[in-house]
Amino acid sequence: MIKEQKFKIIDSTNNEAQRQLQTENPPKEDFVIRAEFQTDGRGQRGNTWQAQNAANLTFSYVFFPLQMQVKNQFQISQAAALSVVEFLKKNSIENVSIKWPNDIYVGMKKICGMLIENSVSGHYIKSSIIGIGINVNQSLFRENLPNPVSMTNITGKFYNLDEKFYEVVSILRQRLSLLKEGDFAALKEEYMSNLLGLNRTLIYSSSGTIFKGVIKDVDQRGYITIFNENTLSESKYAFNEVNLIIPEQKKNVQ
Ligand code: BTN
Repeated sequence: MIKEQKFKIIDSTNNEAQRQLQTENPPKEDFVIRAEFQTDGRGQRGNTWQAQNAANLTFSYVFFPLQMQVKNQFQISQAAALSVVEFLKKNSIENVSIKWPNDIYVGMKKICGMLIENSVSGHYIKSSIIGIGINVNQSLFRENLPNPVSMTNITGKFYNLDEKFYEVVSILRQRLSLLKEGDFAALKEEYMSNLLGLNRTLIYSSSGTIFKGVIKDVDQRGYITIFNENTLSESKYAFNEVNLIIPEQKKNVQ
């Protein structure tokens, strides 16, 4: 079993994982920090991550890859995203996909977000903090969130959080251990086959321009290639350089 620590309340599980990695005698093996409530849950692009107390899964899985080069770090993101996809599918959630790079969507709604923070030494990744928030039992969300959804919104069931936590962590653990074998081609194939917008026209924005686009590829570094149907040309984007525009939809608001 992986070492696990559970907090009732904490600033952010990613922050706590970071603190533990910075102690004099830091852990050397994978471990997980889990919280019932985060006072300063962090999201991508400096956003916050809000989750109702004790209703959802908020945890950070700390992974020590063996000899993974920094240039291959996107593989961690792919493996983590596919783990959550597998977990949701096993729980009878349909229409699950990965919104590049590693949000998990059900239809056009977000059920899970990830914040992955790596620490590197030379060309290698020393440790990776994989922060994951999955909406599980929360049925209503703050109005300011664009398009949230939870497992309970979809199935009407109430889930045992401990059980779901162990389920998802065990899938993650297995998938991360496969990474060490370096089978990147198979990983990419599975990632692409679960990608929202692959060979499908959706609306994107980049540098203030809105366009119809079709995802064509995501390369080993995580850069995305989108065919712009307005200009009939392909461009490659890094994270933050392009955004999917989510159509207006009915909200589960408080
Ligand atoms: C995003 O979609 O913007 C990423 C959200 C990541 C949230 C998780 S919850 C557990 C971990 N601790 C944090 O502070 N953030 C991540």
